[in-house]
Amino acid sequence: MHSHIKQRLENIVDNLDQLPSLPDVVSKIINMVNDPNVDFKKVADEIVKDQAITANILKLCNSAYFSKGKEIASIDRAIVILGIREVKDMVVLATTKAVLNKVIMGYDLARGELWKHGVAVAMVSKNIALMKKRRDISDEVFTGGIIHDVGKTVLALFVQNTFKDILTTVEERNITFQEAEKEVMGFDHQEIGERVLEKWQFPPILRAIVRYHHEPQLAPKEHMAPVSIVHVANTLCLMAGIGIGSDGLFHELKPEAINAAGLTEDELEKIYSEIPEVMQKAGEIM
Ligand SMILES: [Fe+2]
Ligand SMILES: [Fe+2]
Repeated sequence: MHSHIKQRLENIVDNLDQLPSLPDVVSKIINMVNDPNVDFKKVADEIVKDQAITANILKLCNSAYFSKGKEIASIDRAIVILGIREVKDMVVLATTKAVLNKVIMGYDLARGELWKHGVAVAMVSKNIALMKKRRDISDEVFTGGIIHDVGKTVLALFVQNTFKDILTTVEERNITFQEAEKEVMGFDHQEIGERVLEKWQFPPILRAIVRYHHEPQLAPKEHMAPVSIVHVANTLCLMAGIGIGSDGLFHELKPEAINAAGLTEDELEKIYSEIPEVMQKAGEIM
């Protein structure tokens, strides 16, 4: 139906230069921290090479969301007091803003909306992980939450030209916005997002979160829990009206994900009712 658009998107997907980039230090830090024998000193050395990122992290360390009440004035101290994985989350927060804090035309998202949505989904995902005693993945779902919709930054311009057809397809065939997106343009924002993460050399768990956040039931078994947590957080944030664009009304909470995350109805309600509080804290780290 839109073969020229499919063609142009294929070119973008095949040509990594055209996808958004991040400073190399980000994948370096993420992969260093993933290593169980990580050397904290080396991580700190890597971060302080970049003055802008360092300044940003120190600011985040002393925000109400991350602070443990002690003033932090160096990356070394931040790692000791807050933990290496928190510092890694801050590196991602400090560097992805430039990619996500844009007007996302086709999806009807004003400047800042996709960024705000990402930070909200990150914080809600982390709350779910901590509620379910999954501290081992609380940092991964936080990072994955921030960037889960990064593919939208690439697809946005194309959605603009095909939006009517996408909506018609949704109505006529009674399918979700993502399914129609793929049918009309040849790609959905999850696939494009996965490609962006390949370019960034992010680990498989984060790629799985981006790829399957709308279809958690299809995620590889070993990543089912983190994908499901971000899926639930994403859907709850949309229900709360955070980051609703043109696709906002076509989302559903997948029962498989609620199961995989081990959430009861009461827990879901509690997480949902805490979203206004989360947004208040989010204001400080955006
Ligand atoms: Fe999405
Ligand atoms: Fe989303």
